[in-house]
Amino acid sequence: MYLGLEKGVALVTAASRGIGRATAERLAAEGMTVIAASRSAGGDPETIGPGSIVPLGHDLSDVAATAELVDTVVARFGALDVLVINTPGPRILPVLDVGWDDWCVAHDMLLRPVVQLAGAAGRTMRDKGAGSIILLSSTWVRQPAAGGVLSASYRSAASAFAKTLATELAPAGVRVNQVMPGATGTARMYGIVEMKSGANGTTVDEEIARVVADIPVGRWAEATEIADAVAFLASPRASFITGASVPVDGGALRAGH
Ligand SMILES: NC(=O)c1ccc[n+]([C@@H]2O[C@H](COP(=O)([O-])OP(=O)(O)OC[C@H]3O[C@@H](n4cnc5c(N)ncnc54)[C@H](OP(=O)(O)O)[C@@H]3O)[C@@H](O)[C@H]2O)c1
Repeated sequence: MYLGLEKGVALVTAASRGIGRATAERLAAEGMTVIAASRSAGGDPETIGPGSIVPLGHDLSDVAATAELVDTVVARFGALDVLVINTPGPRILPVLDVGWDDWCVAHDMLLRPVVQLAGAAGRTMRDKGAGSIILLSSTWVRQPAAGGVLSASYRSAASAFAKTLATELAPAGVRVNQVMPGATGTARMYGIVEMKSGANGTTVDEEIARVVADIPVGRWAEATEIADAVAFLASPRASFITGASVPVDGGALRAGH
């Protein structure tokens, strides 16, 4: 499907690997100039322009730099047409083991950057009368799971923020949507099953089988499959979709039909 994204400028955060990286590559494949921000990114890109990925060093825990990130991109690249807010995942812990520091770190990774980035992009896009903001979150927003209280709690707040922003910016031509990945085969996911295998005295394959047993499609996602949904929602092909929360989870969510 022709998405009509070419020549636009996109910013994707937490984009050096996993779902964020796959999203940056997908948008670049559509002909966008993609600024891929992460802590490990840096150096000068070989090319800048349609179809290129421009690495930008950025730490989402830096409050001042995150407040300025959107303006920095607009000043350097002349526009911001698509913002994809991806964030690093929080600790996986039982509720009763979560310390106050864990809550503070999770707030500063999962909620504060969403408010800062979507707010700054929302103002720029409103003034331009066009733009698309995608929040990458998790199916745990809709269906919390054991060990996932930090993710479910702060992403639920971020989801409400995104829905409200979508309502307020729709008349200005700015769309705001949320993509909720289910289990996806990334470094983070392999780290989680390895941790569970250590804790439960099982093999990694047994832990993967437990995760997959809950997914009707019978496997977990490739990061590229999440990226495909993001690219569609970012594009003019999704011109009448805003305020939506789209699960990409192989049918794992049973509620919310
Ligand atoms: N994988 C899944 O099954 C799954 C399912 C649902 C939701 N999610 C969520 O989706 C998000 C991405 O997951 P993933 O599996 O793709 O994770 P991942 O493979 O671990 O990638 C995490 C990304 O976050 C970046 N990052 C980490 N700390 C950062 C910081 N302080 N500032 C800026 N960037 C930072 C990393 O780059 P640097 O280290 O270079 O900074 C990396 O690019 C997470 O929030 C995760 O919880 C994942």
